[in-house]
Amino acid sequence: MKKPLDQIRDEALKHAVPIMSDNSIEFIAKVASRFSCSKILEIGTAVGYSSLKLLSLLPDVHITTIERDEKRFEQAAKHIDILEASESVRALCMDAFDYLPQEWFDLLIIDGAKAQNQAFFDRFFPFVSKRGVVIVDNIDFHGHVSLSDSIGNDRRNLRQMVQKIAKFEQYIYHREDLIVEKVNVGDGMMVIYRKER
Ligand SMILES: C[S@@+](CC[C@H](N)C(=O)[O-])C[C@H]1O[C@@H](n2cnc3c(N)ncnc32)[C@H](O)[C@@H]1O
Repeated sequence: MKKPLDQIRDEALKHAVPIMSDNSIEFIAKVASRFSCSKILEIGTAVGYSSLKLLSLLPDVHITTIERDEKRFEQAAKHIDILEASESVRALCMDAFDYLPQEWFDLLIIDGAKAQNQAFFDRFFPFVSKRGVVIVDNIDFHGHVSLSDSIGNDRRNLRQMVQKIAKFEQYIYHREDLIVEKVNVGDGMMVIYRKER
């Protein structure tokens, strides 16, 4: 009999719900431990897999996770109930841009619409504590980012998205107050934190 978390992952994959790989989530857990994070904000819940898996690796954290798609949110809420995780994982059904944090977070995970990485960063970085850290997932977007010039005009939306991901990367690298580590885990991840912590 499969464990509930494995079932959630397998169901998500079966229905083509985009979820993080276990490697990626394990990497996030390592970063969270390295930066002693306990309060986490995740943009992009999908069906709750990354939050619940992260909680299984770091049982003391509190995660707020935001999802705008009602069906996915309902699935996530069901999964949180099944795993009896509602004291540690708070899922909100709304567009992330409508969410105004009332607290500091020490880890921000950006895993929403990829073209909006910059907008998510601008909106939520002010709520990341001074010693906190940001992780951006899918920074290579299936290898497309390094090959953006070769994406044909017939795939205009893809090209625009990939260009936005690349633009955000350039922006982050030019911020002199930040340290940026790019890692080859999953589909490419960025770890961002302040130089003066
Ligand atoms: C890659 S999936 C998240 C996967 C999840 N973190 C996991 O690994 O299990 C991205 C999700 O972000 C949601 N999303 C995209 N833009 C959003 C926004 N502005 N506000 C809230 N959710 C958003 C999408 O509906 C989608 O379900």
